[in-house]
Amino acid sequence: MSHEISDALVFFGATGDLAYKQIFPALQGLVRDEGLGVPIIGVAKAGWTLDQLKARAKDSLSSHGGLEIKAFAKLTSLLRYVDGDYNDPSTYVRLRQELKEARRPLHYLAIPPSLFATVAEGLAKQAAGMEARLVIEKPFGHNRESALQLDRILNRFFPEKNLFRIDHYLGKEPVQNILYTRFANLMFEPVWNRIHVDSIHITMAESFGVQDRGKFYDETGAIRDVFQNHMLQVLANLTMDPPTGEESDAVRDQKAALLKAVRPLDAAHVIRGQYAGYQSVPGVKPGSTVETFVAAKLFIDSWRWAGVPIYIRAGKALPVTAVEVMVYFKRPPRETFEEIVSRGSGYMRMRISPDVNIALGLRVKHPGESMQGEDVELVLTEQETVFKPPYQRLLSDAIRGIGDLFGRQDIVDAQWRIVEQVLNDTAPPVVYEHGSWGPEEANRLIEADGPWHNPKPPALRS
Ligand code: BG6
Repeated sequence: MSHEISDALVFFGATGDLAYKQIFPALQGLVRDEGLGVPIIGVAKAGWTLDQLKARAKDSLSSHGGLEIKAFAKLTSLLRYVDGDYNDPSTYVRLRQELKEARRPLHYLAIPPSLFATVAEGLAKQAAGMEARLVIEKPFGHNRESALQLDRILNRFFPEKNLFRIDHYLGKEPVQNILYTRFANLMFEPVWNRIHVDSIHITMAESFGVQDRGKFYDETGAIRDVFQNHMLQVLANLTMDPPTGEESDAVRDQKAALLKAVRPLDAAHVIRGQYAGYQSVPGVKPGSTVETFVAAKLFIDSWRWAGVPIYIRAGKALPVTAVEVMVYFKRPPRETFEEIVSRGSGYMRMRISPDVNIALGLRVKHPGESMQGEDVELVLTEQETVFKPPYQRLLSDAIRGIGDLFGRQDIVDAQWRIVEQVLNDTAPPVVYEHGSWGPEEANRLIEADGPWHNPKPPALRS
C-alpha cells in the first residue's frame, strides 16, 4: 500500500456546514501542527470568490477552532477556490487546472451523499495519470443495498486502498483508548467474556435537539445517524478479539469479524422514541415517524460473548451530553459477606465525551469490626480535554494514505446488516419529554439487567 503524502487537498462543499464546523478548524490544525503546505482547493457552487472563501474560513475559525493568526495566514496562502456545478464537466476541468503539478490529490466530499457518485465520476474522468484519494462522510448509503451500490460505483473509479470512509468516532482519542487499554494490559483479557461479564451498557446522550438540521435528520433518524456507525464502532472496539499479525489491516479484520457476529436487530428488542417538539423543527415533515432516540438490546453470536446482553441507547434532547460505556462484571457466585450489594461496584466505566475517563468500580472494606464495605472507583485516567480534534487526526491519516481509522467496505456492510431489519419501521415512535431519559419502554427493555447507567454531567462527577 502506498503511504505517499497527498500533494494537494481538495474539498467539495467548501461553503457548507461541515466545512464551516469541522474542516477549516482541522485544516488550521494541520497547518499549525503538521506543517501541511500543499495547495488546498475548495470547490462549491455558491458563486463565491476566493476572498469570500477566506472570509468564511476566518469566520469558521473564530467560532469553531480558535483563530490563530500565524497558522491562519499560512492556511489562506494555500487556499484556492473553484466555483462550479458538480454536474458540469467544466468544473472538473478547472479543478484539474488549479491542481497544476499535483499527481496525488486527496479529495474530500463534504457534500450530500446523493452527489458522491456524480462527483467521483467527474473526478475520475479528469484523473488520468493521477493516484487520487477520495474521502467520504457517513452515511455510506441509506441501507445495505444502497451502500453496496455506492461501493460498486466508487470502486469503478477509486481502488479500495484510495477510499477513506470517515466515521469521526474512530478519530476520537478515547475510542482508541478502549482498544489500547484492553490490549496493552493482559489482566483484562481473561475476564473480557461471557464467563465474567454480566452485561454491557453504552449510552450516547445529547441534551440538544436536531437544531437546524431538520431536513437532514428527518431523512436519517437516530439509527442511521449514530447507531449504525458511531455506536457500532464503539461496540466493536469494546468487544473485538485482539488483532493478530503485523498487517496494518489487523484491527479492521477483527472488527469486521466481530460485527459479522452481531445478531441482526429484532424489532422486539428495539425502542424508538421522538422528543416532544421535534415535529415543529423546520425541515421535519408533518407527522414524521423518524426516531430521535433508540434503545436496543443486542447479542453477539460468538464463543466470547454468547448470551451476554448488550444495551445501546442513543438520543437527542436527553438530560446531558455525554457518551459512556459500562461493562458490568458478574457478582461472586455467593455473597460471602451477606451484604446487599447494588450495581455500585464490579464494573469498568469508559467515558468517551465530553471528558475522558476510564475507571474500575470495586468494593473495599470499611474500617471497623464488621465485614462491611463501600463502593470505590479506581480512576485509571481522567482527561478534561481531547488531544486532537477527530477530523484533524483523520484528515492527517488520509493525507498519508493510512486507512486503519476509516471504515472498510466489509465493515460498513456488516453494520448495515445489523440494523437492516429495523430500518423501515414507520410505526410512530414513543414521544418523550425534552430533558428526560427517553421513553419508559426503554427501561422495560433492560429489565433485570437494569437500570440503565445514566452518564452524569461533567461538573457533577465526583
Ligand atoms: C454526527 C451526527 O455524526 O455525530 C450528529 O450526525 C451527532 O447528529 C454527532 O450530534 C455527535 O458527534 P460528537 O462528536 O459531538 O459526539
